[in-house]
Amino acid sequence: MNKNDDYLPKIIAFLCNWCSYAGADLAGTSRLKYPPSILPIRVMCSSRVDPLFVIKAYLNGADGVIVAGCHPGDCHYEKGNYYTRRRFALLKKIFEDLDLEQDRLMLSWISASEGPKYAKVATEFTEKIKEKGKNPAKSKIFL
Ligand code: FES
Repeated sequence: MNKNDDYLPKIIAFLCNWCSYAGADLAGTSRLKYPPSILPIRVMCSSRVDPLFVIKAYLNGADGVIVAGCHPGDCHYEKGNYYTRRRFALLKKIFEDLDLEQDRLMLSWISASEGPKYAKVATEFTEKIKEKGKNPAKSKIFL
């Protein structure tokens, strides 16, 4: 038995209303299995996710953070996810500069019809975070 077998990470997932949240909903209504480690937060578009939301979630103890939106070209606000993609690259750079673990962040494109993809992303990211263990920033920073 692995020491991390009982550990269930806390993962915050910012999901866009039109695609990824609907994909998560489809995974649930299709009764697909995925770990209960994800706390979904619905936003109208992935571009609504201010990088500070992610930084605050992480520094307040989230073990991992997912941002998910419509596939490029499918954003309901036309260019929102292109902004998200650029911001996310900068966010990873900020994590790197602050010596935080940037691989605790994930950006994914999940459409409303991709319930199985949502379940796969949730499962694989949870496994990855389980391997890494608890967020070390939590014990270092007191907000
Ligand atoms: S509405 Fe889904 S990413 Fe913009």
